[in-house]
Amino acid sequence: MAAEYERRRTFAIISHPDAGKTTLTEKLLLYGGAIHMAGTVKSRKNKRAAVSDWMELEKKRGISVTSSVLQFEHEGIRYNLLDTPGHNDFSEDTYRTLTAADCAIMILDAAKGVEPQTRKLFHVCRMRGIPIVTFVNKLDRPARDPFELMSQVEDVLGLHTAPITWPIGSGDRFQGVYHRRQGAVLRFEKEPGGNARKLDSERMDIGDEALPKLLGDEAAGSLIEEIELLDGAGEEWDEERFLAGELSPVFFGSALTNFGIEPFLNEFSGLCPAPRGRDAADGVHVEPSDQRFSAFIFKVQANMDKSHRDRIAFARVCSGRYEGGMKVAHDRLGKTIRLNRAEQFFAQARESVAEAFAGDILGLYDPGLFRIGDTLSTEGPMSFDAVPRFSPEHFGRLQLLDPMKRKQLQKGIAELAEEGTVQLFSEPGREKDPICGVVGRLQFEVLTFRVEHEYGAKISFDILPYTRARWVEGVERADQLLAQRIPLAVQDQDGHLVALFRDNWEVDRAIRDNEAWTFRDTAPIRAPRA
Ligand code: G4P
Repeated sequence: MAAEYERRRTFAIISHPDAGKTTLTEKLLLYGGAIHMAGTVKSRKNKRAAVSDWMELEKKRGISVTSSVLQFEHEGIRYNLLDTPGHNDFSEDTYRTLTAADCAIMILDAAKGVEPQTRKLFHVCRMRGIPIVTFVNKLDRPARDPFELMSQVEDVLGLHTAPITWPIGSGDRFQGVYHRRQGAVLRFEKEPGGNARKLDSERMDIGDEALPKLLGDEAAGSLIEEIELLDGAGEEWDEERFLAGELSPVFFGSALTNFGIEPFLNEFSGLCPAPRGRDAADGVHVEPSDQRFSAFIFKVQANMDKSHRDRIAFARVCSGRYEGGMKVAHDRLGKTIRLNRAEQFFAQARESVAEAFAGDILGLYDPGLFRIGDTLSTEGPMSFDAVPRFSPEHFGRLQLLDPMKRKQLQKGIAELAEEGTVQLFSEPGREKDPICGVVGRLQFEVLTFRVEHEYGAKISFDILPYTRARWVEGVERADQLLAQRIPLAVQDQDGHLVALFRDNWEVDRAIRDNEAWTFRDTAPIRAPRA
């Protein structure tokens, strides 16, 4: 068993749209010799057509709205890449997927540095202490000064950096990277077709007299100066700090032209940790090597296959060994269930899984048993720390356009809320018109489309001006919040009191004015035990 889980690398890629996530994913698969390819990787020829056709909407909009898992093996390592939708209108799925990852690759566009979506996703990684490997992309284009980029990462994200490779020029004068660990100059040459031609890497110490001949006087001079500065004043590599999510190794390259991918992947397999132990409630701790099988649900996807009208729950295995047909304790329901049909998903193709180990993702056929945050284990009772529910950023009051379809609407919206596509809030006195909260605005369209096509009810949304939700503790009733100039007080689907705000200024004011109350920006999703 140890041999199996120790070769698992379960990771996700976080980036702002257009930084190059799709391109890097493709190149990783290419270099890794992907055995399976699925989900949201857009095809090169027709970038607008998603490979996955789980949802008609994807085809219509030409973007990916679901997240999926890509698997590939490279030199004995099994990679599970959790895909996080990168479109500007991303959903809470993107956040939650990160709870199942052991490591994240953060891509930065060398011309833009840290962008808003990078920041949000980073925040989620930080909450869980996920180690982050940084890849600075698009060096073949005019780029910002690499020192300036590093200090932006430190200032904006509070993440320390330790460059493993360092760029030699950028844009038209991009010559390659210096590999600090290997003490090697890896040179880049663009081919007419746009791809990089692989030149032999030159094992060359930074003090080597031949360096100016190889790179030109000016480039060699700058490189020597910069490496000396890094060696002298830069952060030292510290694996413990990396694993704690405090220090990030940094690589430079150009995904489009293939440059810097191979050295990146070679180092990444050593950096990305194998599955580690996880804490569960009541002081229980599981190690991946435990005999006890344990897993938690981080995503539920309804109606993946229209002809089956089924639901699939995605479970991240944390310990033990999964076998088809095994019996597990379902902690929330307090009963034993048999896991008959676990599958791995490659777009429309499904493959039965015979066995799985810590780090692997199972797609469980779900007859309505699973909710996000549920724990399954062979030795109960145990439950993992809850998957948090994040503050939505857009709120809309739901309008049912055909009053005869209230039942369908209720069923649909309840299922979509369980799936985590939407958060439902009810305002005291207006319970019939629920407020829907989503992370990305596109989700309103997704909801409208899905409720109509999957449940047969036409709906629309009245967009509300709120952009922040805070779960409030230390207070009992909504009217107490309203009395304190809080714009709107509602209850979430588990009955927790939630304050809605238009902006940060209002949030700060409420915190200042009400010191006895606690305002949280996440709520636990795990439903109480039945
Ligand atoms: P995303 O998934 O993070 O949104 O980014 P994606 O990989 O789709 O890349 C966004 C754009 O940036 C694409 O251009 C892509 O070709 C380009 N790109 C990615 N990596 C690099 C790089 O290293 N260097 C350069 N110069 N460009 C890069 P596009 O014009 O939107 O698409 P396409 O017509 O090139 O396919």
